[in-house]
Amino acid sequence: MHAAWTPPPRRQEGVAGAAADMPQARHPGPPVLDQAFDAGSLFRLRAAVAAHAAALGAGEAAYDVVLIAHELSSNAVRHGGGTGRLHLWSDADRIMCRVTDSGPGLADGAGRGDDLPSPQVPGGRGLWIVRRLAAVRVVTGASGTTITAAIPIPSGANRGGPAPAHDRNGRN
Ligand SMILES: Nc1ncnc2c1ncn2[C@@H]1O[C@H](COP(=O)(O)OP(=O)(O)O)[C@@H](O)[C@H]1O
Ligand SMILES: [Mg+2]
Repeated sequence: MHAAWTPPPRRQEGVAGAAADMPQARHPGPPVLDQAFDAGSLFRLRAAVAAHAAALGAGEAAYDVVLIAHELSSNAVRHGGGTGRLHLWSDADRIMCRVTDSGPGLADGAGRGDDLPSPQVPGGRGLWIVRRLAAVRVVTGASGTTITAAIPIPSGANRGGPAPAHDRNGRN
């Protein structure tokens, strides 16, 4: 007997409370990556995101960061006017990826991507995937869209900080 598969829930950050769950509206310092893109430069954007996510200590989560960056930036190309800008930075335990465009905006930004479309429907899964991997905040209107994804860094990842003073046997 196999248990029925149910999709993983929408990712929420660990802290209780809707406001605390959402990625910060402003980033604390300068982003480590601030790159404009269009349809012809998504490959360059993915390469830059991969390199910076690794340098920020994302570990295995770097794959998720690149996938999310690609889905959000290709949405800006396809639905959001054709060009956009990506910012990447980190806080204590998350990589933050923000994509901004100047397109026409989308209806139901807060809920878009909550439900998996039926198999007969072509497309429409990008935001669903992003919401499985990250806490997402959508700010959208007639002059553009900004989507911020907060991707958790696995606790075992090497954040590039100072080497521990002792090895696992307690020796220096
Ligand atoms: N940046 C954006 N600007 C305007 N509309 C968007 C944007 N991103 C997503 N959308 C809307 O949300 C829908 C769902 O996006 P997504 O899940 O990535 O599916 P897909 O790109 O395959 O249509 C899109 O079809 C589009 O209508
Ligand atoms: Mg898409």
